[in-house]
Amino acid sequence: MIENARTSRSAIELGYDPWSPAFVADPYPALARLRDGPRALFDERTRQWLVSRHADVNALLRDRRLGRTFLHVATNAEWGRPDPPAEEADLWRLLGSQMIDQEPPDHTRLRRLVSTAFTPRTVERLRPRIDQIATALVEDAAALGEFDLIADLLELLPVTVIAELLGIPQADRANLRPWSRDMTLVFELHPPAGDRARAVTAARAFEAYIRDLARERRRQPTGDLMSELALVADAGDRLTEDEMVGTAILLLNAGHEASVNGAANSWYALFRQPAALAALRADHGLVPTAIEELLRFDTPAPMFERWVLEDIEIGDVRIPRGQELALQFAAANRDPSVFERADEIVLDRDPNAYLSFGAGIHYCLGAPLAKAEFDIVFRRILERLPRLALVEEPTWKPRFILRGLEALRVHA
Ligand code: HEM
Repeated sequence: MIENARTSRSAIELGYDPWSPAFVADPYPALARLRDGPRALFDERTRQWLVSRHADVNALLRDRRLGRTFLHVATNAEWGRPDPPAEEADLWRLLGSQMIDQEPPDHTRLRRLVSTAFTPRTVERLRPRIDQIATALVEDAAALGEFDLIADLLELLPVTVIAELLGIPQADRANLRPWSRDMTLVFELHPPAGDRARAVTAARAFEAYIRDLARERRRQPTGDLMSELALVADAGDRLTEDEMVGTAILLLNAGHEASVNGAANSWYALFRQPAALAALRADHGLVPTAIEELLRFDTPAPMFERWVLEDIEIGDVRIPRGQELALQFAAANRDPSVFERADEIVLDRDPNAYLSFGAGIHYCLGAPLAKAEFDIVFRRILERLPRLALVEEPTWKPRFILRGLEALRVHA
């Protein structure tokens, strides 16, 4: 079976090279070649099956024979995988307690506990506050004249909103983004030892901080999500202490990384396509469809993995239990069999079957919140900074899984 797939051109020959700066800067030509190749292509370097067509990615995300984890059905040893090294145990225990790395029934229980805080209706009630924060941030950035659209504006909105939701005191927030950045380094493919060590250090500091905060909130609840989680964990049967910490950190990480990169990638795409930017400037009513289209056009999360829990077939390739798939969201989002003018920004694209928020049981819990934040901050930027322009070409961070720019220097 694996031999069969090896007869086609290899992933590296097609240009799939997540460690190469040139690939990270523009993965789309290589992803198009992958998509035109076999429906599942085994990549020797990662030992993952690359799946890149929209219909396949969409179906597999909903397929219960796959899982984000396999540890609920087998041990690492049973699947011939090494246990994480002892010095990384704290990090992997924390990640393993998060809903995104759980399958039912634990996933269902954990997701249910926080889902009401993120429903479209709850998010609708947050809009005035999000607008207040966004308006002030845009005003502060405008006063700078020339600034980094990411550090001085785009990253501050999701960080502030999620920190307020959880009830993280203002004075502590500056720590959160570096902890998130470092912790998530291990999601990349083959992270180097230095990155792994940074992730462990960040995870320990983050965990200690959240445990202290939970203790305080338990003593004196303040009506925020952290107080709620701490009290539920205290009651004992619905949420363990580790899960409480893992949930808070997952929300902070997710709120920081994907949202920040997504907003920044979207603005960079607009700067490179002046006609689209001009059309959006001329008609702010396009913002709701435009933000979804920009997330399709250059998703901040181009690939997610799945474990094969029961044998599956993708086309004529049989993939047995124990194998791993790499679902190429960025390739699926540009699949010409689903999207007309797939490589263009079509601001009023509707319907838009983009997969940037995933699908199935792990569909992004924060999607309504992220979309509300984007909608508001894009409008405020368009209104207050109508001539916003790039000062210099940005560079991409050397990361593929959480793909984003180092900085985005602009002038008002
Ligand atoms: C543009 C911004 C965002 C993008 C592109 C994004 C993307 C995604 C994707 C693709 C998944 C599913 C992963 C998979 O199936 O393997 C996911 C899951 C998740 N996201 Fe987001 N996300 C964004 C923003 C947020 C925000 C703001 C939050 C929370 C505050 C959030 C919280 C979560 C959580 C908790 C999960 C796990 C859900 C589960 O396992 O059931 N995300 N996100």
